Amino acid sequence: MTPTVLFVCLGNICRSPLAEGAFRDLADQEGFNVKTDSAGTGDWHIGRAPDKRAQVAARNHGLDISDLKARQVTREDFHLFDYVIAMDGKNIANLKRLQPKGSKAKLNLLLDYVAGKEGQSVADPFRGNASDFEKTWQDVSTGAKALLDYLKSRNKA
Ligand code: 4NP
Repeated sequence: MTPTVLFVCLGNICRSPLAEGAFRDLADQEGFNVKTDSAGTGDWHIGRAPDKRAQVAARNHGLDISDLKARQVTREDFHLFDYVIAMDGKNIANLKRLQPKGSKAKLNLLLDYVAGKEGQSVADPFRGNASDFEKTWQDVSTGAKALLDYLKSRNKA
């Protein structure tokens, strides 16, 4: 079975598109079959491409995320996706409230998958500068690698 993974932040224009891009790229490189998407808990940026600063951070690491489009997370997503991966503590609190009872999604923070960083948030870079976006890239790519390792080990079992 192909696992399905949804990355979620607040606006779906900075952290979750970067996480989706980083994870998608690693999975493709390793030939791991997975379906991915990203969404925001908020609705302000629906339909927009990722923030230019996020696009630049991705491009600095060889990735083009310009074709992604922001959308808002829905209750249906918890039935459609196996894994809903939140970037920060506020996102996960909002998602817990939204999650329908009995839905299949496993809800975690991205950094829960990184040994020693369990429970930590990927900081919101929106009011920051290029170096904050680079820090976001480092966090989400570390998380993406750890999540991929986790899914690969589960798929073997
Ligand atoms: P993101 O960043 O949640 O990583 O996409 C933000 C994007 C927009 C806003 C806040 C954070 N905003 O306040 O509009």
